[in-house]
Amino acid sequence: MQDPTQEKNNDTWSGRFNEPVAELVKRYTASVGFDHKLALFDIQGSLAHAQMLAACDIIRLQDLKDIQRGLGQIENEILCGEFVWSLDLEDVHLNIEKRLTTLVGDAGKRLHTGRSRNDQVATDVRLYLRSAIDDLLGLIKALQGALLDLAEQHTSTIMPGFTHLQVAQPISFAHHLMAYFEMLKRDAERLRDCRKRVNRLPLGAAALAGTSYPIKREYVAELLGFDGVCENSLDAVSDRDFAIEFTACAALIMTHLSRFSEELILWMSPRFGFIDIADRFCTGSSIMPQKKNPDVPELVRGKTGRVNGHLVALLTLMKGQPLAYNKDNQEDKEPLFDTVETLTQTLRIYADMIGGITVKPEAMRSAALQGYATATDLADYLVKKGLPFRDAHEAVALAVRFAEQRGCDLSDIGLAELQQFSTLIGDDVYQVLTLEGSLASRNHIGGTAPNQVAAAIVRARNGLAK
Ligand code: ARG
Repeated sequence: MQDPTQEKNNDTWSGRFNEPVAELVKRYTASVGFDHKLALFDIQGSLAHAQMLAACDIIRLQDLKDIQRGLGQIENEILCGEFVWSLDLEDVHLNIEKRLTTLVGDAGKRLHTGRSRNDQVATDVRLYLRSAIDDLLGLIKALQGALLDLAEQHTSTIMPGFTHLQVAQPISFAHHLMAYFEMLKRDAERLRDCRKRVNRLPLGAAALAGTSYPIKREYVAELLGFDGVCENSLDAVSDRDFAIEFTACAALIMTHLSRFSEELILWMSPRFGFIDIADRFCTGSSIMPQKKNPDVPELVRGKTGRVNGHLVALLTLMKGQPLAYNKDNQEDKEPLFDTVETLTQTLRIYADMIGGITVKPEAMRSAALQGYATATDLADYLVKKGLPFRDAHEAVALAVRFAEQRGCDLSDIGLAELQQFSTLIGDDVYQVLTLEGSLASRNHIGGTAPNQVAAAIVRARNGLAK
């Protein structure tokens, strides 16, 4: 049989055209340069589709066997790096289909029965994203584990807690770390929830309206591990809300890690000197020999901008599209792939970096002592002795001014002098003015008392093990 593809490379729609696609247009419209990343998912989807076609007597069993053999060989070629991708064949789908036809003949040409690239690509992207989410959930868990390992050692390591980046109240370093654990817990929860909406099958929607073949969509869904089918064919091929939602989840994770990075950078600066980050995560300066720069957290902060940008790109890609499929959607891939890659690398490096942090408890403690961090404790002490809170606030403000003028901490002021600010003050006041007393008194769920934080760590560990 004569192969009409010998003259023209892409014969898929050439019958209707009077002239070949211009070179420039070919390059502009081709996506194989990036969507080849979907290849193994494309094969997975095709195998399930073919199996259903055979089960429904739409193709013969022999066709199915040929398709399975051909796709198996193609998979090997791809894994060995031997597969030759052709720009002339536009995208991953046509490249694989063409190779299949070369390998197995007519059976290859029958694979596309009852299917369109529109439902095919939507299926591939969902399979890709589902697998990415599963990997990312594992990486978040590893990072959470690293945070718990570090927090466990520091439930009694006192540092200043800040608001407005001014010393506010003393907290434990563990308590601070556990704040990020909580953020990551919600991040994982969001991803798991997003996965439910990703995990629906578009195949069967065909180009937009469904197909006239007696297909069984539920069977394909089951073969591919989807929770169900997309219930409207137009919606199935056109919306990329699941990718947008995922990228929003990713942007939030990056935003959390960006805030954490900003803190690591501050804490590592000699002005704070709270921590040291292992040398393997830092670089030096080509001119200033003394420098050790926190490049990794800085890049995490920087790459957050990139992921946030991808979210805006995808939202913008979608907003003006009429139903159903439009070629605009081809542009969903690069932002999505880059989001997955950036987030994957960031989470991976972050867990290692947390494991390589050296804590400097003395520097944390002396910073906590410098900012009148126990002033609220003194006010609370006065309230417990009967003074209205606003009056207590004023009395302590005056005491702080006094200490500031003298250049000492509140706990360094003698009892008689303290009593100038309120006669309610007794010698038991020094228990609340110490950093340890301040921490211990915040003894409720969510508070910084060492026993509470230790209990939070235990709960967190149990939650992670589930
Ligand atoms: N490469 C295309 C994409 O990524 C595949 C779908 C093309 N469909 C079409 N009708 N041109 O969206």
